Amino acid sequence: MARVYNFSAGPGVLPEPVLKKAASELVEYKEAGMSVMEMSHRSKAFEEIIQSAERLFRELMQIPQNYHVLFLQGGATSQFSMIPLNLFRKSNKVDLVHTGTWTKKAMEEIKHYGTVNLIASSEDKNFSYIPKLEKNKFSKDAEYFYICSNNTIEGTRYTAYPDTGGVPLIADMSSHILSEVIDVNKFGIIFAGAQKNIGPAGLTIIVVREDLVGHAMEITPVMFNYATHVENKSLYNTPPTYSIYMAKLVFEWLKNLGGVAAMQKINKEKADILYNFLDNSSIFKSPIVREDRSLMNIPFVTGSKDLDAKFVKEAKNAGLVTLEGHRSVGGMRASIYNAMPAEGVKKLVDFMKKFESENK
Ligand SMILES: Cc1ncc(COP(=O)(O)O)c(C=O)c1O
Repeated sequence: MARVYNFSAGPGVLPEPVLKKAASELVEYKEAGMSVMEMSHRSKAFEEIIQSAERLFRELMQIPQNYHVLFLQGGATSQFSMIPLNLFRKSNKVDLVHTGTWTKKAMEEIKHYGTVNLIASSEDKNFSYIPKLEKNKFSKDAEYFYICSNNTIEGTRYTAYPDTGGVPLIADMSSHILSEVIDVNKFGIIFAGAQKNIGPAGLTIIVVREDLVGHAMEITPVMFNYATHVENKSLYNTPPTYSIYMAKLVFEWLKNLGGVAAMQKINKEKADILYNFLDNSSIFKSPIVREDRSLMNIPFVTGSKDLDAKFVKEAKNAGLVTLEGHRSVGGMRASIYNAMPAEGVKKLVDFMKKFESENK
């Protein structure tokens, strides 16, 4: 069977050249005479892989020297508890903007250790926008200020980040890391599960400012303490070696393509193709306010459950797969991560036009 266009929200599409390169090295990696999967994480060959991965990632994101980069396991979800465990020192209070499923989950974990000061929420309108923030609600003594910068399920994204003064700003960038240029200096911690724009599942990348490491709560398990992983360069225990290798290949691919700024331009063009169609369609529409629309995760609806189901089924038969919306929101969603070629988005829009003419 030929490769399909995969619009999955994650694990998501990977660049085809990366998959081919990995396939060519799968059984014997360079001079090692074995697969990366079979290699000791303490071997010279793997050391080179993890170091190159970090170097490339730092270069792509322009990460300043006073930030550590960690390659961990546990998914983005583990960060929901790892962050309070490492950052709570005094007030145990977090300023948080609630924008959907992933901030709700983060909130639930914070409440095990402290309190949440809700700065704003977009729940009143089904999380279809990013709320405007009133600075007088920010707490000076918050341990950190928490946002999810791209909401994978709802399809919203921040286009500007709050100025939180001395309070570290922390962002879950799982579904749009490396898709647009970000000024890392604005953040205390950035984290992302790899399985969307970085590589296969199993790897979570954390960018943490150095002053936030080394003050974990007494109860923090050793694996949940950032200091453990900083001191051991992400090799305290066996890291997800193959996922790190794949991430390195994805970073090389992205660098060759021109880096994050070039990718951002392509991503904007791809998203525009789909949004322009949605805004002019007679049966499909985007539920998200224009100014807060994600470039990565694009939900859309027809207004009829039956028609939605028919669309998903027929699209699948046309080689356009995983277009159903998240089980919590329904409708459809096209996740068009970095690795989705413009051709895939054009094919999707062509198919939607045809479907529209047949189902008016
Ligand atoms: C924004 C966001 N945060 C967190 C998660 C959870 O990630 P993981 O499955 O790696 O724990 C996801 C997964 O889809 C996500 O999209």
